[in-house]
Amino acid sequence: MAQLSATTQDLAPIAAPAPPAIREANPLTIARWLGWVAALVVAILVVGGITRLTESGLSITEWKPVSGTLPPLGSAQWADAFAAYQRTPQYTQVNGPAGMTIAQFKTIFYWEWVHRLLGRVIGLAMALPLAWFWARKRIPAGYLPRLFALLALIALQGTFGWLMVRSGLSARTSVAPQWLAVHLLTALFTLGGLVWTARDLSALADHRGAARMTGLGAAALAALGVQLLFGALMAGLRAGHVASDWPAMQGSLIPAGIDWSRGAGFAIGHDPYLVHFIHRWWAWVVVAVLFVLARQAKRQGGAGASRAIHAAIGAQILLGIATVMSGVALPLAALHQLVGALLVIAAVWGAHIFGAPIAGTRIAGAPIAGIRAGIAAP
Ligand code: HEM
Repeated sequence: MAQLSATTQDLAPIAAPAPPAIREANPLTIARWLGWVAALVVAILVVGGITRLTESGLSITEWKPVSGTLPPLGSAQWADAFAAYQRTPQYTQVNGPAGMTIAQFKTIFYWEWVHRLLGRVIGLAMALPLAWFWARKRIPAGYLPRLFALLALIALQGTFGWLMVRSGLSARTSVAPQWLAVHLLTALFTLGGLVWTARDLSALADHRGAARMTGLGAAALAALGVQLLFGALMAGLRAGHVASDWPAMQGSLIPAGIDWSRGAGFAIGHDPYLVHFIHRWWAWVVVAVLFVLARQAKRQGGAGASRAIHAAIGAQILLGIATVMSGVALPLAALHQLVGALLVIAAVWGAHIFGAPIAGTRIAGAPIAGIRAGIAAP
C-alpha cells in the first residue's frame, strides 16, 4: 500500500515553476510588430522612389534628426530654407535657370520632408517596442541581437541617406549613383531581414525551429540582389532614359552608346547604357531562379509564397518594360519600385519556407503552452 501511494505520487504532474527572471515570450506578437515595421519600410521605399523621380531629394540641405522633424513654419523660415537650397549646384545649374518659384520649392521640400519623417517613424516603431519587449523580458532567447541588428540597420540607413544627400550638395547636381545604390540596397536588405525574422518568430510560436538559409535560397536572393543593385544604378544614372524601345535598345540588341574607354570594370558601374542592358537581361536569370525557388517552396507546403513570387516577378517584368517604353513615367517607375520591394518580401518568404524544418518539428525544450524567454532556442 505504502509502495502504491509512493508510485502515485511519482506519477503526479510536477509543476516546475519558471525561474523568476524568465517569463513567457511573445514570438507571435513580436512577429506581427516586425510585419508592421516591414510595411512602413515598403511605404518609405515608395515615397523615396517618388522623391527621387520628382528630383526632390536635395531640397533639404541640412541633417537635423530632432529639430528637423518640423517643416519650416512661417514665411521667414521658408525663405531661409529656400536660400539654403539656392546655394546648391542643383539650383544654380538646373532649377534656378528654369525659374523655380518658392511654391515649386515647397513641393519638392515636402516630398523629402515626408521621406525623412517616415524614416524617423520607422526608427521609433523599431526602437520603442523593442525597449518595451526587452524590459519585460518577452523576447525569445537568441533574438535580442537580431532585433538590435535590425535597429542598427535602420539607424545606419538614416546615416547613408544623409551621406547620399551630401554627395549632391557641392560638386554635383544630383546625388552620387553609388550612394543611392547603397541607400536603396540597405533598405531592401533591412526589409528582407525583418521578413525573415518575423517568419522565424511565427514558426517559433508554432513550436517549430528557425529556418536555415539553403544554397538555393541564397542563390535566388543573390541573383535578385544583383538585379536590385543594377536597378538602383539605373535609378541613380537615370539609365532608364537612354532607350525607350524593347526588347532591342536603340534598335539593336547591344546598345551602341556603351563607353568602354575606362575599362569594362568601370563601365559596369557607371555607364548608363551598359547598366540598362544588364538590368533588362539579368531580369530573366532572376525569373528562372525564382521559379525554381517557388516550385521547391510549394513542394514544402508554401503554395502562398509560390503564388506571391509568381505574381510579383510577372508584374515586375511587365512594369519594367512599361517603364522603359513610357520614357520612365513617374507612376510606372514608382510602381516598379513598389513591386520590387514586394518581390523581395515574396522571395525571402519562399527562401524561408524552403529552409524551414519539416512542419510540426518541435523545438527541444519548448513547453507546449508557450515559448519561454531564455528557454526556446531560435
Ligand atoms: C527581376 C526583375 C526586376 C527587378 C527586381 C527590378 C528592380 C528594380 C529596382 C529596385 C529599380 C530601382 C528602383 C526605381 O527607382 O525604380 C529598378 C529600376 C528600373 N528598372 Fe527594374 N527591375 C526588374 C526588371 C526590369 C525590367 C525587365 C526592366 C525593363 C525591361 C526594368 C526597367 C527598369 C527601369 C527603366 C528602371 C529605372 C526607373 C527609374 O529611373 O525610376 N526593370 N528596377
